[in-house]
Amino acid sequence: MATTLRTISWMVLILGTVLIFGASVDYFVIGDSGHFIEEKGDVGGDVVWLAMLFAHVSSGLLALLSSLLQFSRKLLSRIPALHRWLGRIYVVSVLGILCPSGFYLALFAKGGFWGRLGFLLLGVLTFHFTLQGFLALRRGSRDMNRHIEFMIRSFAMLTTAITFRIGHLTFYLLGMDDATNYLVSLWLSIGGNALLAEWAIRRMLNRRTSISAITTPRTT
Ligand code: HEM
Repeated sequence: MATTLRTISWMVLILGTVLIFGASVDYFVIGDSGHFIEEKGDVGGDVVWLAMLFAHVSSGLLALLSSLLQFSRKLLSRIPALHRWLGRIYVVSVLGILCPSGFYLALFAKGGFWGRLGFLLLGVLTFHFTLQGFLALRRGSRDMNRHIEFMIRSFAMLTTAITFRIGHLTFYLLGMDDATNYLVSLWLSIGGNALLAEWAIRRMLNRRTSISAITTPRTT
């Protein structure tokens, strides 16, 4: 059951990354503005906004790609240097480009007040979780449990890019109007992914506690 769930999650993740990449190709082709940009009206022709969107989409894809192998225990034990390098790429792309450009785009986001607030909250959470996960590795006060917990949370926020689009497509097929669909998909993906992250962390901690209860010899 756990293996099936893991296989399904991996398939959704890889397929989601490929689909976002496919749907974003338009933004990289000069002269082909794509549906999302056309829909934005005046701001869609603004050079700063377009540069931010370009930086955002590129860094988002880089962050997703660099995160795909990070949860593999085999890779971590066999090639730890790869984990460290992918981690650096992830942290720099998320903290240095994805979140700052996302904050700028949020000022013009669809969905009025609640749409902007949702994206701002997503940006604050993603930034905070990623920074905490990174700081947990500081020399002298290295805390691996804290690193793993915060990186799970960071990854959960990052993959709202995938669950948002799954929700958006599902509600579209169910006939929901576009404005409501955008907000419901946004808030559901943030809330749903946050809950999934807390569930995964709790499960991991419980498993560790039960393993150490079996393996630690009793002293009394
Ligand atoms: C791996 C993570 C992410 C990827 C791959 C990604 C990708 C994208 C893409 C492709 C778009 C263009 C819209 C579309 O084609 O649907 C977009 C828009 C946007 N993203 Fe992200 N994104 C990610 C994470 C984030 C985060 C963490 C924030 C938080 C600040 C954010 C905020 C926004 C905003 C505000 C827009 C514009 C929405 C609008 O104008 O209605 N994104 N993103």
